[in-house]
Amino acid sequence: MVHPSGFTPACRRPESSRDSLPSPFRTCEPFARMDSSPTNLPANQATADARKGRLVDRFGRVHTSLRVSVTDRCNIRCSYCMPLQVRFRPRDEILRFEEIERFVQIAASLGVNHVRITGGEPLVRKDVPLLVRKLSSVPGIVDLALTTNGILLTQQAAALQEAGLHRLNISLDAISEENFRRIARRDGVRRVLDGILAARRAGFQRIRLNAVAMRGITEPEIVPLAHFAREHAIELRFIEFMPLDGDGHWNDRRVLSGDEILEALSAEFGPLTPAARPDPSQPAVDFDFADGLGRVGLIRSVTAPFCGDCDRLRLTAEGKVRNCLFATGDFDARSLLRSGAGDGEIAELIRNCILAKKAGHGADSPEFLERPDRSMYEIGG
Ligand code: 5AD
Ligand code: SF4
Repeated sequence: MVHPSGFTPACRRPESSRDSLPSPFRTCEPFARMDSSPTNLPANQATADARKGRLVDRFGRVHTSLRVSVTDRCNIRCSYCMPLQVRFRPRDEILRFEEIERFVQIAASLGVNHVRITGGEPLVRKDVPLLVRKLSSVPGIVDLALTTNGILLTQQAAALQEAGLHRLNISLDAISEENFRRIARRDGVRRVLDGILAARRAGFQRIRLNAVAMRGITEPEIVPLAHFAREHAIELRFIEFMPLDGDGHWNDRRVLSGDEILEALSAEFGPLTPAARPDPSQPAVDFDFADGLGRVGLIRSVTAPFCGDCDRLRLTAEGKVRNCLFATGDFDARSLLRSGAGDGEIAELIRNCILAKKAGHGADSPEFLERPDRSMYEIGG
């Protein structure tokens, strides 16, 4: 199936086309950069990293970034993530803060230095500032961030800041109450906007807004979101809608591409210029507004995957380690954490998980499934 804008997302590529990749996939980073050589790092660099005990995969990617989901629960029901009818995991399956802290300590000993707390919605879990305090004092963790939908931020921003959280990503997919309700299937845009301002007042300097870009919904929100972000001097990023929705309604026609967003922004604000890209592992490609007031990031996860630079691993709320959003399997850390295993055994599990990582999200593989086996809320955004 070919999208009107010309791309064919990986997940929809039919069997018959596997040998002749449509052009976006022939040139996209993971495959173009990784097909010809088993590593995208000089071999001696990868070996040196591995010798230092760092998390290097079969393709030379060094893993330094860990996303930790603290719950699969949420107080809204974004259609791109949760199904309307959802069954959450029993609480005793969810890792305790002490277990998460131990896992992060072990990951940090393997070179992980960035941690992001996610969910579900992390702030629906009790006492998240307590976890922030624990993780911010783990030696080696230089960057501690949290992704939230912002609904509970007004109440919690000050405590999070005080506990040592460095950065916040706040989901804001729409400014209009009506569109917010269409996406989130709950009311709440006022609370999110208040939460963003509360985070500012609490002293957070590094705040990013994330909007998932869905065709037929996001178009009228692009310009208002950009105005809001510019007015408050907050970075805004648009993320192409990925096939991780709980209802399974994703299809390629529902993806609003980064290019289309750029077009809409240029029509309102004048041509945007690509910004310098200091950190290649950052999935967003940034663009500066013509008048110099702010910038916008595009995460083209569907039309231009960035797997070649991926440095991430994930710990799900119930203690499974995953090497990719689109992974079809995981590694059970909880059973080790709860059965008296030593740190070395858990480190080995993390290493094995990284060694099992594929080059890209699997579209080039005959066993590729249409969708990963979990939706976003069950993985950690
Ligand atoms: N596609 C793209 N991004 C998603 N997120 C959740 N589900 C999807 C999806 N299907 C992102 C949103 C949210 C974060 C938790 O994960 O940006 O802010
Ligand atoms: Fe690619 Fe998976 Fe990393 Fe995403 S998580 S960038 S799909 S390897």
